[in-house]
Amino acid sequence: MSFDQRLAERTAYCEDVLHKWMPSTEAMQGDDNCAAVVVDAMQYSVMAGGKRLRPIFLSETCSMYGGRPELAEPFMAALEMIHSYSLVHDDMPAMDNDEYRRGLKTTWVVYGEGMAVLAGDALLNYAYETALKAFDICESAEETARVVRAMKILAGNAGIYGMVGGQCADLEAEKKPQETDARTLTYIHKHKTACMIESGFVIGAVLAGAPEQDVEKLDRIAENIGIAFQIKDDILDVIGDSKELGKLTGSDEKDGKVTYVTMYGIEKASEDVKRLSEEALTLFDSLTARNDFLRELAVKLISRTK
Ligand code: IPE
Ligand code: IPE
Ligand code: MG
Ligand code: MG
Ligand code: MG
Repeated sequence: MSFDQRLAERTAYCEDVLHKWMPSTEAMQGDDNCAAVVVDAMQYSVMAGGKRLRPIFLSETCSMYGGRPELAEPFMAALEMIHSYSLVHDDMPAMDNDEYRRGLKTTWVVYGEGMAVLAGDALLNYAYETALKAFDICESAEETARVVRAMKILAGNAGIYGMVGGQCADLEAEKKPQETDARTLTYIHKHKTACMIESGFVIGAVLAGAPEQDVEKLDRIAENIGIAFQIKDDILDVIGDSKELGKLTGSDEKDGKVTYVTMYGIEKASEDVKRLSEEALTLFDSLTARNDFLRELAVKLISRTK
């Protein structure tokens, strides 16, 4: 099977997992129908598509250490729900003020700002409701302990010491671009983006009971891949194709953001994507397990166009 076929297969698998774990308006009965609009907005933002990279990372690191796919599935869904909520809020007028995402009008444009706030809140909460269901399918005390650890990683990387912290620094930097130095920009990239990618790489391995040294290496691999991913996102915001990206380019300039491109220029930014990714690949090759598909995916992300 070619890489592209395998990627399509893995993406379709993530879609199936999301279908299984997302709430649906059809299942809502009686008085619960009062909450149907928020569920509809959750569905709209999550099921709009997207590359599904974070759940793919999670399921691939789980399978490479021989983990049970069923145990990974609630975490795959939860991680993509948290990622989608972060995008719903990120697009709102009070943040990046963007009108297109994943090839569609953003959630706030379609449902209004109030409902977009609620859809984000609901996705974040439902993510934990979903991940907690992993406890119901644990088959041993050891698996239960792994799920506890995975919950902590999921929550930590999404919060103030993770993605929310990065988004906070991103907003603050927008108010004082002149004072935003290289260190602050690295903090922003690492937290707003790399932390959620770390959740993918590390949770899968933890659920599978990977050796501790490998878990620690995967965390570093994901940090590099995550920072490179955000640098590439900054590059694509300048030179990418809106149609392919599913979101309008020029958003960072419109918001007066300091990005890797404004700080270093396109050329150095592109070099750093490559350098950080290559460092990650070298470390990946030193793991005790192999996953050629995941390795190839990391290579492909260097030259991604969407
Ligand atoms: C967009 O993430 C936000 C960033 C962290 C750069 P993705 O580029 O993974 O977006 P989707 O999930 O494919 O829509
Ligand atoms: C967002 O970074 C990262 C999040 C945590 C949502 P960006 O604001 O650059 O992401 P895009 O370009 O809107 O997808
Ligand atoms: Mg943003
Ligand atoms: Mg944005
Ligand atoms: Mg961006």
